[in-house]
Amino acid sequence: MIPFRYYNPTHLLFGKDKLQELRTLVPMYGRKVLLVYGGGSIKANGLYDLVTEHLYAVGADFYELGGVEPNPRLSTVHKGVDLCKREGIEFLLAVGGGSVIDCTKAIAVGAKMEGDVWDVITRKTPATDALPFGTVLTLAATGSEMNAGSVITNWETKEKIGWGSPHTFPKFSILDPTFTFTVPRDQTVYGMVDIMSHVLEQYVHHTENTPVQDGFAETLLRTVIATAPKLLADLHSYEHRETILYCGTMALNGTLAMGVQGDWATHNIEHAVSAVYDIPHGGGLAILFPNWMEHVIDENPARFKQMAVNVFGIDPASGDDREVGLSGIRALRAFWTSIGAPSRLADYGIGEEHLDAMADKAMAFGPFGHFKKLQREDVLAIYRKSL
Ligand code: NZQ
Ligand code: ZN
Repeated sequence: MIPFRYYNPTHLLFGKDKLQELRTLVPMYGRKVLLVYGGGSIKANGLYDLVTEHLYAVGADFYELGGVEPNPRLSTVHKGVDLCKREGIEFLLAVGGGSVIDCTKAIAVGAKMEGDVWDVITRKTPATDALPFGTVLTLAATGSEMNAGSVITNWETKEKIGWGSPHTFPKFSILDPTFTFTVPRDQTVYGMVDIMSHVLEQYVHHTENTPVQDGFAETLLRTVIATAPKLLADLHSYEHRETILYCGTMALNGTLAMGVQGDWATHNIEHAVSAVYDIPHGGGLAILFPNWMEHVIDENPARFKQMAVNVFGIDPASGDDREVGLSGIRALRAFWTSIGAPSRLADYGIGEEHLDAMADKAMAFGPFGHFKKLQREDVLAIYRKSL
């Protein structure tokens, strides 16, 4: 293991009927509340009514910012910041998926600073404070409900940047699997790909002596693989929604990161694609991750063999480390295809037109990735392989 520090102050409330705890939690942070949500799914499925009923019950003076986009935009963050400053908002409540939560994190920081929060996101200036915020999660995918990360897109400059600070952990997150029942089939698939990708980003490493971390990661991967077809056959299954919701949080709340050096190159490569084409994050990952793996396998074939054997049940004697590892990567791609995830950039109508621009965006902060440090030509090779 490598030396590490673990810090996660988010109060997690998981399971049926946990929403009513809003009545004790919200008043702890203030009376003037900004309710942040997306394009309308919470109004269609009734969650908006449930949440506002609790806010009325505690006498909250609440304002609303709806319409947060998937791949949330800086322009929406600015709207939220202006509203917070104008109305003296004391607490933010995000009700939605990762996009709504990520947008809320940026608003929380922007509301407490003089300048533009984009300067924090682009690392020109550190975040020094944030308004407190809580979340009610509606989609299992990003882990944003229990981490400090956020990803914001500046649509004018076509930049999509991941950032975070110790100030951007939610104070609490409420996860009731029933609120994820209405997630459409395609978003359910993207969410499961994203969850597996978070595990894989932290599983493919060179760190030695990580048997517990490896076991956690392999269990999460095997669980998503076993649950996905059952959930897709019954999108209203409490049991399977519950399993995937729990996997999503555990995949990216810092647990798997303890003592290992994760890679995270594929997320950076994907963010550059969705900055230019506004495609779903999980869809982009399904295309790019197996191609990244094939590109870097020679750095440590044994690591991929371990995945092949322990996650996909491939016979360890079926070839040398590299051959067995490649079988594992093929099995991963086949699994994602089997649940309906895309496998080529062409599936989104993406051709060679903007490969250079995407590579430039991916390289914005220099060479990246810890399993193999990627240069511009590596990024281009992975994009070309993904066409
Ligand atoms: O906007 P609404 O109407 O709510 O609809 C959303 C949206 O269209 C819909 N949806 C969410 N919950 C629903 C629902 N529809 C019906 N019923 C429900 N219960 O699903 C669509 C996608 O929502 P979104 O929030 O965009 O999805 P997700 O949670 O996958 O978030 C994706 C964003 O998170 C970033 C991604 O890059 C992307 O911008 N990420 C954030 C991370 C983090 N903060 O740690 C890490 C991730 O790797 C990721 O990069
Ligand atoms: Zn992700």
